[in-house]
Amino acid sequence: MQTKFWHDYILHIPDYPKPGVDFKDITPLIADAAAYQQVIDAMADYCTQNNLQPDQLVCPEARGFMFAPALAYRLGVGFLPLRKPGKLPRQTAFTHYELEYGTDELHIHRDDIVAGKRIVIVDDVLATGGTVAASVALLQSLGANVVACLFVMSIDALGGQQRIQSQHPNTIVHALKHY
Ligand code: PRP
Ligand code: MG
Repeated sequence: MQTKFWHDYILHIPDYPKPGVDFKDITPLIADAAAYQQVIDAMADYCTQNNLQPDQLVCPEARGFMFAPALAYRLGVGFLPLRKPGKLPRQTAFTHYELEYGTDELHIHRDDIVAGKRIVIVDDVLATGGTVAASVALLQSLGANVVACLFVMSIDALGGQQRIQSQHPNTIVHALKHY
């Protein structure tokens, strides 16, 4: 029997949600217990082997929520959500950014960020890098030390890694799987 890896569970959906976009469907990956454990373990191993030692993870709504909480549990740290407008009840800081298909805004509770804390940002896909480059800038403006941005996968042709690294040269950018 052929061994199936976690990334074999990702489906590639052409022209969704609009023509020209190759959507990565992670729902079969998170639906399979063994595949989900493999991907979370691989993210945890990357953090440990590279001595990232985060105090907390931060992840953008919504697909970041499918990975960061499990990874936080595995690493024994907490996680902070970056949320779309109108979802957080206390004072927020926010960033407005461009996406592969549209624009959006992410907010975080201001007092969730403690200056100097080591943060690793976690998300499912690195595409143009717009979401996470803006998130790094937001967290840094609040005094956080964003040590790394960790993705399940990267769509390399969209240049996200270069974009984040050119704007934030002291932050590690890593994806487990490259397309
Ligand atoms: C998707 C994906 C990443 C982002 C990557 O989120 O989950 O967060 O796009 O694109 P970028 O590198 O070009 O910024 P999206 O905002 O579409 O929605 P969701 O996570 O709420 O489903
Ligand atoms: Mg997202």
